[in-house]
Amino acid sequence: MRVLFATSEIHPLMKTGGLADVSASLPHALFELGVDIRLVMPAYADTLARLKSWQVVSELNLGICGMARLLRSKMPDSPVPLYLIEHPDFSTRSGNPYNDTTGHAWPDNAERFSLFSRACEMLALDQAMLDWQPDIVHGNDWQTGILLSLLRENPLAPPSLITIHNLAYQGVFSRATFNQLDLPQSLWRPDALEHWGEMNCLKAGLNAARKIATVSPSYAREIQTPTFGQGLDGMLRQRHTDVVGMINGIDMEAWNPQKDAYLAAPFSTDTLDDKALNKLALQTEMQLENDADALLIGMVGRMAEQKGLDVVLAAADRLMQLPIQLAILGGGDPVLEAGFQTLMLRYPGRISVRLGYNEGLAHRIEAGSDAFLMPSRFEPCGLNQLYSLRYGTPPIVHGVGGLNDTVIDTYEATLNNGTANGFVMRNLDVPAILWGVNRALEFFRQPEVWRTLQSHGMTQDFGWASGAQSYLELYQELAAKPGETVPALTPPPSPTRSRARSKA
Ligand code: ADP
Ligand code: GLC
Repeated sequence: MRVLFATSEIHPLMKTGGLADVSASLPHALFELGVDIRLVMPAYADTLARLKSWQVVSELNLGICGMARLLRSKMPDSPVPLYLIEHPDFSTRSGNPYNDTTGHAWPDNAERFSLFSRACEMLALDQAMLDWQPDIVHGNDWQTGILLSLLRENPLAPPSLITIHNLAYQGVFSRATFNQLDLPQSLWRPDALEHWGEMNCLKAGLNAARKIATVSPSYAREIQTPTFGQGLDGMLRQRHTDVVGMINGIDMEAWNPQKDAYLAAPFSTDTLDDKALNKLALQTEMQLENDADALLIGMVGRMAEQKGLDVVLAAADRLMQLPIQLAILGGGDPVLEAGFQTLMLRYPGRISVRLGYNEGLAHRIEAGSDAFLMPSRFEPCGLNQLYSLRYGTPPIVHGVGGLNDTVIDTYEATLNNGTANGFVMRNLDVPAILWGVNRALEFFRQPEVWRTLQSHGMTQDFGWASGAQSYLELYQELAAKPGETVPALTPPPSPTRSRARSKA
């Protein structure tokens, strides 16, 4: 089984969120199952700086986009082969792959991911001097939508699968932008790139892919409803037999509290007392009071509307009446960043905020916090709650998407049957957050019960073993019917216009 896995970020070469983690860990797990899987991503300036070496395989003529070079390299900590598309639009710009430093989308994102798609198309069609053609092309999110759309037009192309990591980011551009891309005019149709007069890359990918995977069973159901469908629920309902929800795995080695080199004191279920050393070290590092009795609540993630941080800001003054501390790491929306900075000044020693990306601190917050807060409005899967479970840090979550599928609320029955591992809020508002935190406090004050809760999470297996097997079965199903095409869809009956952005 030969698979080309196309993605816009892979940890540790480029990362803005969980897509990067999954693009590293899932292909690795598939490789171990014997799949000839190869990764392809853009050669961003920062990515080239992080790679030790590479070879130039070929020069790719991308028409109006000019020439790109195909580079071959290897992932730093994995045997999976890696290809990079080197073009000045990627390789001369450092920082976030989608946004400038003020958080605005790069003005040429359509051109950049269109050229990435054209280059990947050449790999998929064995036109890149590799002497290798995949049986399956696996795309991820809107950045690969044009690729899958181009492949669908070609009867010789391999079948494709797309994984939706986040339906909120769709890669929406104007008709005028489409005209400048020099793509086949035939792609301007409702079951390809056109969507209510605009160009929509994710929609194009969803229309073109033979199977649509997403990263949790709950999210697979939610996105077929107007509430979570971001304007694409109608088409997803029409494709419902092709939509599959599979929970993400994590890299159990990179996130292993027993071997984690970022921690002050690595620990396991047998040495859970050592977790207190990590709490103390975190309080010191983040200039929080060295208070062993306060419930230290961690938060790590993109500061975006998705994550429900505005509700935490609204709840903050009432939360601070409780014996808790907050350790927050993240960045993104300038309004949220400013809100948390103000809060830190109002509650010195009790709320600490670090803005920016910091891999080591993310691990130390997972390990040193007592509980982890994820009040997401929607959450396709969520990896941070899985990391926190593994680090004995029960999550307090809003029960949506992957949070609903991985966090089991704590009450007598779930404690007795050994499944309780955190706290699930059924609503997302200030009272719900206060309720969730108060319940965590109530159990935190019962050390034996708390320890039971911690060990439930720490002994769960969040690895990729079964998830990778499910992806392999999907690949096999598609490869068994290579000529099958996606049926043309009728426009959905009463469409809701998408509010989608073009991705943070
Ligand atoms: P999303 O993909 O929506 O951002 P996930 O929970 O799936 O959410 O994954 C987020 C990933 O990004 C995790 O690995 C998390 O640790 C990491 N991360 C997010 N923000 C930061 C940050 N500021 N510093 C370090 N790691 C971060
Ligand atoms: C997205 C989602 C997140 C998911 C990640 C990896 O960014 O927001 O929930 O865990 O992708 O699939």
